[in-house]
Amino acid sequence: MSAQTPTHPALSKVLLDENTIKARIRELGAQITSDYAGRRLMVVGVLKGSVIFLADLLRTLGAELDVEVDFVAVSSYAGKNSTGAVRTLLDLRADPEGKDLLLVEDIVDTGLTLASLTETLRAHRPNSLEVCTLLDKPDCRKIPIQPKYVGFRIPNEFVIGYGLDYDERYRQLPVVGVMRT
Ligand code: PRP
Repeated sequence: MSAQTPTHPALSKVLLDENTIKARIRELGAQITSDYAGRRLMVVGVLKGSVIFLADLLRTLGAELDVEVDFVAVSSYAGKNSTGAVRTLLDLRADPEGKDLLLVEDIVDTGLTLASLTETLRAHRPNSLEVCTLLDKPDCRKIPIQPKYVGFRIPNEFVIGYGLDYDERYRQLPVVGVMRT
């Protein structure tokens, strides 16, 4: 991680700059490519926060991999706070039965979203189910759940950018930074 001068007035600090994010995603992509060789990988992006990470991660996966992409949408946050209630807004289109599912998240915070999602997806009887998250805030966990693939462990600060929002804004920032309060 490298701390930098903020590039946007909404940020008090840049936690992860573009090059740092890119390099780590390349490593994750190589690891996933090797782990899923010869399997039927179904990458499931969790909308909306994961879209930028997912798009960049997909492009680092080996061309030889058998990859399918689908999306789910859930929501539990209003402003900065998790409401605790995870609502399904969009379900999978494809049947995950017998496939190797990889849920892609932008951030795991309390773990409530992931716990709810993994329970729902396991009911569809995938061959396997793992999670890849760009960011992990282990200090905030309310449910003991640990993603297999983690880009960066970050402290308990409210972060925006690179897909992460505050009330639907700032997703387009190319860096991950701490929001100015
Ligand atoms: C965010 C994020 C994760 C979840 C993590 O989603 O994308 O899905 O919160 O928090 P948790 O571990 O405390 O459950 P959000 O509900 O804000 O929707 P969004 O992805 O559309 O921004």
